Amino acid sequence: MSLKPKEWKLDPASFVVVANRLPVDRVENPDSTADWRPSPGGLVTAFEPIMHRRRGAWVGWHGAADEELEPFEHEGLALAPVPLSSSEVEEYYEGFSNATLWPLYHDAIATPQFRREWWDTYVIVNQRFADYVATVAAAGAVVWVQDYHLQLLPQMLRRQRPDVKIGFFLHIPFPPTELYVQLPWRQQILEGLLGADLVGFQLPGGARNFARLVRDRLGLETLRDRIRTRDGREVLARAYPISIEAKGFHELAASDQAAERAAEIRHDLGDPRVMFLGVDRLDYTKGIPERIQAFGELIAEGRIDPDETVLLQLAMPSRQRVEQYRRLRDDIDRLVGRINGEVPRIGRPPIIYLHVSHPRVEMAAFYRAADVMVVTPLRDGMNLVAKEYVACRQRDDGALVLSEFTGAARELRQSYLVNPHDIDGLKDRLVEAMNDVPRNKAQRMRAMRRQVFDHDIDKWARMFLDDLERLNGTPAARATG
Ligand code: ADP
Ligand code: G6P
Repeated sequence: MSLKPKEWKLDPASFVVVANRLPVDRVENPDSTADWRPSPGGLVTAFEPIMHRRRGAWVGWHGAADEELEPFEHEGLALAPVPLSSSEVEEYYEGFSNATLWPLYHDAIATPQFRREWWDTYVIVNQRFADYVATVAAAGAVVWVQDYHLQLLPQMLRRQRPDVKIGFFLHIPFPPTELYVQLPWRQQILEGLLGADLVGFQLPGGARNFARLVRDRLGLETLRDRIRTRDGREVLARAYPISIEAKGFHELAASDQAAERAAEIRHDLGDPRVMFLGVDRLDYTKGIPERIQAFGELIAEGRIDPDETVLLQLAMPSRQRVEQYRRLRDDIDRLVGRINGEVPRIGRPPIIYLHVSHPRVEMAAFYRAADVMVVTPLRDGMNLVAKEYVACRQRDDGALVLSEFTGAARELRQSYLVNPHDIDGLKDRLVEAMNDVPRNKAQRMRAMRRQVFDHDIDKWARMFLDDLERLNGTPAARATG
């Protein structure tokens, strides 16, 4: 592989999004032909509608190793695939991004691993992404950099292309300063991020942690959310809680297809009186074992009747070659097997666990069908699943049990909030959400629906890009629609 940027034969883009992943993954069929399928995770869910409306270019990896592809158009989007070799996938993606940064930024729920060779590859790959962006971006373009995989890119790009406006958004939590400072490369990452004009976080606490670190560790001057860099620029660090395309999800769930599927799903589950639903990437931050444990104990104690109640847990395969993810999968398999095995009868098991990815309309049908949505991460930057469930309601019914440790909990105050570490508390909340009177449920859901519809993904993008445009007085977002 040459790994040099391919010639960009499409029009130079005045709006560029760069993320580790493209919105689609290249997958090989058994007959050696290739297909594209939607990439996993909340980042792609959130960004797809923005990109379709604003017409820009998307720079990212296409999910397959050792494969160089030409830039191409896909469903109206201009895509620039960045190649990664298999050792880069191992060291930059599975290693530094997902075994160092991901656990460190999620409260060190799993122990972060610090390996110098992973860092070296992270630097090399960030530079490659910057090189690609530099060939795609038109003069004076707006470049919006996404997430923890690319924290060095803003500074690298600024050196190459001082003419562009650079925004950065972190989709995951930015950790407390005491945890962040464990990182041997803490200074380089802070400096990398400061290459942006605007650094966005999910919550105000993340923005504050960042400002504190640049003050204490880099000795820079800060005034509230403004940071003065050594080269005299002003960088803004601010919170922008991300959201979903609420109307789109609502309409999808309202469709005949989703309505029929929702009825079928309940029927296939044995027409239970109460259907609990969990939807997650299979990730140790999501609190899946805690949720299953709580449900199992409620059955064992007779507080939930397995004949009329079901928990459907959908878990999308994720990062399957990373050790901690493999272990989690085994743990959940065992836990589900044990709980289902202890119900003293034959027939439908109380927990149905599906370890596959589903099309969007099928997801809308699951949300529509569920009586109680259970979202119990130990730490989560936002959690879009919680918002998707609310958006898919057709009436003010249903109930959302939501972990306090998600970004979404700050907005969805009327959910049944819970501390997932407290299994007894979680059990009580599940029972309360299941048995609450319809009037209470309606009151809660009405408020949450209003919140989700009033703060959708378009508003989020507008707020970020408007702030970026206003900075330093240059007309940054003029081409972004
Ligand atoms: P994360 O970004 O950490 O995965 P989010 O909750 O923010 O968490 O986003 C997850 C996204 O993945 C949502 O858009 C959700 O609909 C989607 N998703 C989760 N599980 C599945 C699945 N089994 N099949 C298809 N989509 C899924
Ligand atoms: C989270 C991250 C995204 C990531 C997604 C899926 O949402 O914030 O950056 O793309 O998970 O994870 P994956 O490792 O499959 O890209």
